[in-house]
Amino acid sequence: MDWAVIVVLNVMFQPSLSVLFTVEAERTVYESKFGEDVVMGCRFQPKLSNPHDADLKVTWHWFTSTLVRDVYRMENWKENSAFQDPDYLGRVMLLTDELRDGWSKLKISRLRINDSGTYQCLVQTGEGADYKTTTLSVVAPYKSVTKHIEKAAGGDELLLSCQSEGYPESPVMWQDGQLKTLNPNTTAVTPPQQLVKVTSQIRVRSSAKNNYTCIFTKDGSSATFQIPDEIPVPQKKNDALIVVLSIGVIMVAIIVAMLFYRRQKGCRGHSTRKLLVDGRGKSVSVAACLAKNKGNDEEITIFNECCMEEHLGAFLKDHYSNFPLSTEVRPHCEAFAAEELPHRLQTNEGQPVSLQALLPEAGEVVFLEGPPGSGKTTANILVSSWTEGPTHAVSKLLNLSTVRFLFTVDCSRVKGDLFQEIKMQHSLMQKTGDELRTLLTSEALLVLDGYREGNNFFDESVRNFLMEREGCRVLVTSCPGQCPILNDTVVTGRTLQIQNKVGRS
Ligand SMILES: *[C@@H]1O[C@H](CO)[C@@H](O)[C@H](O)[C@H]1NC(C)=O
Ligand SMILES: *[C@@H]1O[C@H](CO)[C@@H](O)[C@H](O)[C@H]1NC(C)=O
Ligand SMILES: *[C@@H]1O[C@H](CO)[C@@H](O)[C@H](O)[C@H]1NC(C)=O
Repeated sequence: MDWAVIVVLNVMFQPSLSVLFTVEAERTVYESKFGEDVVMGCRFQPKLSNPHDADLKVTWHWFTSTLVRDVYRMENWKENSAFQDPDYLGRVMLLTDELRDGWSKLKISRLRINDSGTYQCLVQTGEGADYKTTTLSVVAPYKSVTKHIEKAAGGDELLLSCQSEGYPESPVMWQDGQLKTLNPNTTAVTPPQQLVKVTSQIRVRSSAKNNYTCIFTKDGSSATFQIPDEIPVPQKKNDALIVVLSIGVIMVAIIVAMLFYRRQKGCRGHSTRKLLVDGRGKSVSVAACLAKNKGNDEEITIFNECCMEEHLGAFLKDHYSNFPLSTEVRPHCEAFAAEELPHRLQTNEGQPVSLQALLPEAGEVVFLEGPPGSGKTTANILVSSWTEGPTHAVSKLLNLSTVRFLFTVDCSRVKGDLFQEIKMQHSLMQKTGDELRTLLTSEALLVLDGYREGNNFFDESVRNFLMEREGCRVLVTSCPGQCPILNDTVVTGRTLQIQNKVGRS
């Protein structure tokens, strides 16, 4: 039924028949709660003369100035739901027993917010027809108030929040323990046709002892915060749980790391560092600058402690001592280091320098150029001297006590970038590139052994590292002219040479 029909009915019935037949609304306003039921009624007179009056028609409409909804219709004692608005489907019924007593009573169940509005009750019998209107207001009280305390970012402030749902919107008032009114920040979210969610917040100082109460003034619901008693503290129970979980996670990590190591060992052998000294033990092998080392698988003790920085030095020394020089080669090596190298080592300008010059200053790059293999021999001397410390044959000539970590990369067999190679060649797979970077400081000596440009991936990672590095000492051994780009890139560098022949001393 639309608006025009109501107007027509209005015009048709009111002037002519209302004198004889009247309808009166029971109440002008009904107030009911969201989700509950309401019974609205209107009385008609005279009552039905014939209890089976075939002319009986009862109609309820809901309307606003722009909208009409058919709520209920009964014709000749039969409900007619053909025109019923779907909003009321299954929620309305007429209390038919009341009809004989002259009442049209409509029950609406499960009330919705938008059931609110004006209802028109129209009754037609054999005696005549009439209608009246009544108003329904559906409200939703703000019942339970949810409290929330949050530490405001920084400082001694707390953010206290109260939240509740209801209809219509309610203002929120705040008071402290002395009933002083506080100014809240209140926001209301109103999803269409649903309850209003009202959130109200105040900021208070956490150090001041006080009580704060929020009151949803429409219904008087409230909640009180007792500060500082209610400031949430980290719960002991949770702490215990976190500790247990952390231990579990650490153990899993250790197991995974060990399994990973086992696999690494299984599929990739560690090359033995070979000292490139020829049979006479005096001059270095000619073919060796680019010679690939033959891999000799070595058992390596796994130190889980190597994960920690304080144990890394010990781990590296242990790692190097797993590649001991053979007993025949070792005396030659030591003799070369102690007797020959000091006389053959010189600056680029031909000035003789001591073995200690091999140790770069913090942040310095030293290029050591020499005939094939001489660099490798020198690198081996550095490694064994660092590993063995004061007991080593050249310890008087070469003091490496400032070096906490020595990493030596065999450049003749690189496949990955610099960090990947450091990790692989030192069995440090569990370290991330960033962790390594933090280790490569002035306390670290990085030896790039037998470096020759040509592997772009590796070269670029070396150049990037040398540009970004913070204080790390770097020694690059190569044959002359094999790393021209690097030579040009590095500005804080110095070049040493190992002379071909023993110089006159
Ligand atoms: C008020 O509260 C709302 C919602 O929590 C927040 O977005 C807004 O920034 C607050 N306003 C002030 C002035 O604190
Ligand atoms: C009334 O509200 C209900 C939800 O509660 C919605 O499904 C319906 O479409 C609304 N009706 C009108 C006319 O807004
Ligand atoms: C806060 O309220 C509690 C309980 O009503 C009361 O015992 C306490 O004295 C109040 N504190 C302040 C600072 O008002």
